[in-house]
Amino acid sequence: MKPAFIFGTRPEIIKLSPVIRAFEQRGIKPLLIHTGQHYDYEMSKIFLEELELDGIDYHLEVGSGSQARQTGIAMIKIEEVLIKEKPDVVLVQGDTNTVLAGALASVKLKIPVAHVEAGLRSFDRTMPEEINRILADHASEVLFAPTDEAMRNLKNEGIREGVYVVGNSIVDAVLQNAQIAEEKSDALERFGLKPKQYALLTAHRAENTDSEENLKKLVDIIKSLPLRVIYPVHPRTAKRLKELGLWETLERGKNIILTKPLGYLDFLKLQRNAKLVLTDSGGVQEESIILDVPCLTLRYNTERPETVRAGGNILVGLEKERALHYVKKLLEDEEFYRKMANARNPFGDGKAGERMVKILIELYERGELKVKSSRFI
Ligand code: UD1
Ligand code: UDP
Repeated sequence: MKPAFIFGTRPEIIKLSPVIRAFEQRGIKPLLIHTGQHYDYEMSKIFLEELELDGIDYHLEVGSGSQARQTGIAMIKIEEVLIKEKPDVVLVQGDTNTVLAGALASVKLKIPVAHVEAGLRSFDRTMPEEINRILADHASEVLFAPTDEAMRNLKNEGIREGVYVVGNSIVDAVLQNAQIAEEKSDALERFGLKPKQYALLTAHRAENTDSEENLKKLVDIIKSLPLRVIYPVHPRTAKRLKELGLWETLERGKNIILTKPLGYLDFLKLQRNAKLVLTDSGGVQEESIILDVPCLTLRYNTERPETVRAGGNILVGLEKERALHYVKKLLEDEEFYRKMANARNPFGDGKAGERMVKILIELYERGELKVKSSRFI
């Protein structure tokens, strides 16, 4: 069996690494195709090194660009590789432009697509990620839904066949790396931070960074936080902050540590030891509930509603009063803190990667891993 993985950004590398490892453990070496959507050392190569994914077969160097340009160039380059390599299945993960390009290029060559983390919906079609998720799911033959809720979302869109609820491979990644991070990373010492005495913040979503008004609201929240905060800044946000003269404002804040994006081990160490997390990231919302750290999400919706329902995550949007209210409550109300921190992880047991690989191998052996002409609705 010849599986091919197509990925291009930081979270895809992290969440696919356990699936790649699960194939390798069964003696199958998958083809690894990196689109190059993320290309800075600290957005890509550092993860390949830390997660020991050193055998990238194709680097497509797609780079940055508008939505259509990035997706289109990725499709053209992916198609060339797939025609040459003829894999039995293509695996993509999540909702980036790389995922959409990979899924469309593959299915049109009649190569079946397996979508890891299928069925997530924010129900906000103005987000590029929502469009990518919907289209990738509908182009896929095998849909690995992390939760029952994701499966229900697919059902509501008529996708009933080929759906498997397997958990989210982010749990696998966290369990495989949290202890290594604890031992290897010196991030706490390096940044002069003490466990449970600081907040960890990330923000990079288009809806928060592209609008000046929203980015200013974000900066205002960060400046007002009543505890130390470390913010590893995504290059997209760094660029915008500098363009708008807001970087210096943040740098002047005596409670604020700005840093370039961190490697996975440093980030996990800082996340596990944080008092609380503020984020607009999808993966970070998931990791927080896995690591028992309360999460306040700087968005008005989430495609991870399971975390909110479980009680580990609160949507605060970019509303300063609401955000500060919950930060203060977490700092002052022990019972409230404990409840949020102890919320149950809804993403499974850390064996999602193994399950996905087992399913794919069984389908392959039964001759069922192929693009079907119709899907029953
Ligand atoms: C992409 C995904 C988003 C995901 C995020 C993970 C899409 C539509 N968005 O957003 O869902 O949450 O990755 O981090 O696919 N840049 C650099 N260096 C890099 C990469 C990007 O400087 O290595 C800068 C460039 O100015 C670029 C901008 O960041 O234009 C945005 O990058 P892009 O890959 O288009 O989207 P992300 O915001 O990273
Ligand atoms: N992450 C990291 N270093 C950082 C910020 C995030 O290693 O400086 C990891 C984080 O642990 C999570 C993933 O990157 O696993 C989330 O990626 P991101 O927020 O870029 O994308 P999203 O999940 O929102 O698509």
